[in-house]
Amino acid sequence: MAHCVTTWQREHGRHGLPWQRERDPYRVWLSEIMLQQTQVTTVLAYYARFLERFPDVAALAAATPDDVLAAWSGLGYYSRARNLHRCAQVVMAEHRGRFPASAEQLATLPGIGRSTAAAIAAFCFDERAAILDGNVKRVLTRVLGNGCDLAVATHERALWRQACELLPHDGADMPAYTQGLMDLGATVCLVRRPNCLACPLQSLCIAQREGRPEAYPVKTRKLVRGARESWWLWLEHANAIWLQQRPAKGVWAGLWSLPLFEDEAALQSAAQLLGVNPESLPSIKHALTHFDWRLHPRRALLYKASEVEMQLGPGRWVDRGALHTLGMPAPLRRLLAP
Ligand code: ADE
Ligand code: SF4
Repeated sequence: MAHCVTTWQREHGRHGLPWQRERDPYRVWLSEIMLQQTQVTTVLAYYARFLERFPDVAALAAATPDDVLAAWSGLGYYSRARNLHRCAQVVMAEHRGRFPASAEQLATLPGIGRSTAAAIAAFCFDERAAILDGNVKRVLTRVLGNGCDLAVATHERALWRQACELLPHDGADMPAYTQGLMDLGATVCLVRRPNCLACPLQSLCIAQREGRPEAYPVKTRKLVRGARESWWLWLEHANAIWLQQRPAKGVWAGLWSLPLFEDEAALQSAAQLLGVNPESLPSIKHALTHFDWRLHPRRALLYKASEVEMQLGPGRWVDRGALHTLGMPAPLRRLLAP
């Protein structure tokens, strides 16, 4: 099995991505964190820019949280950016500026789970460590015909054990094998309509023999998605926009946002106190991990800027030209773009 994956990866897998030329743990770590919840094409645009801004772990550790959030802005899932920053600081403070060279130790760092730690160790140090992210779970449960409910912890642990047993014996094959599993999950063994005819594991794959690959993986616990609505007050004064920093915890923690209101009445009474009558802009739908958010922007020009802070609490006027220097949620950045 391992041999099929490595041979296939060398011939048909994805090549030439910037982080694949790297054995530098800082660069590989950065790419793996970015790739956790974001598509390769999106990451490509951010990766080079981020490295220019923060060329090594020391530079990242020394940055301010706002600088890091600004460079991350648009990639979403901002807890990743905060953990990235904390992780860099821990590497500087506790590992003398060098990433530890084993999956086990890497997994102790902020924001690095078992699978990410294994990927970094396989790519940088040829360590025989198993990855098991969502894509790889799909590939392996199908190949193995493992129909156990992965919401049950013991079943998940058993799959980890199986993933370890399947590893190539030669560490030198680990980068190609690890990348090969990721590539199969992303390009061949798709959630719906897996392309079994193009798959190097076809002759071994139990799910394909059964004729029902889509039945795997089995996971019963369903995420219950909620819905939320909020109102955004967009105040402008002399080509500047009033922004407030979100609290350190919760949605969009630490990012800069327009003042948010729980209901329209609250927004209108704040607007009235400021002497403005805001216009309604089209609502925006934004999907977060645990809920769908509907945001209603209300926009007004303010002639007297002095009372805003008293009415709305701490914030600052940010010049349009300086918006890009602040960490901001992607939907807001799109809204404010001229
Ligand atoms: N997703 C997570 N890690 C990846 C990698 N190294 N290449 C492509 N996609 C990925
Ligand atoms: Fe997935 Fe089909 Fe390959 Fe099995 S044969 S691993 S189901 S693509």
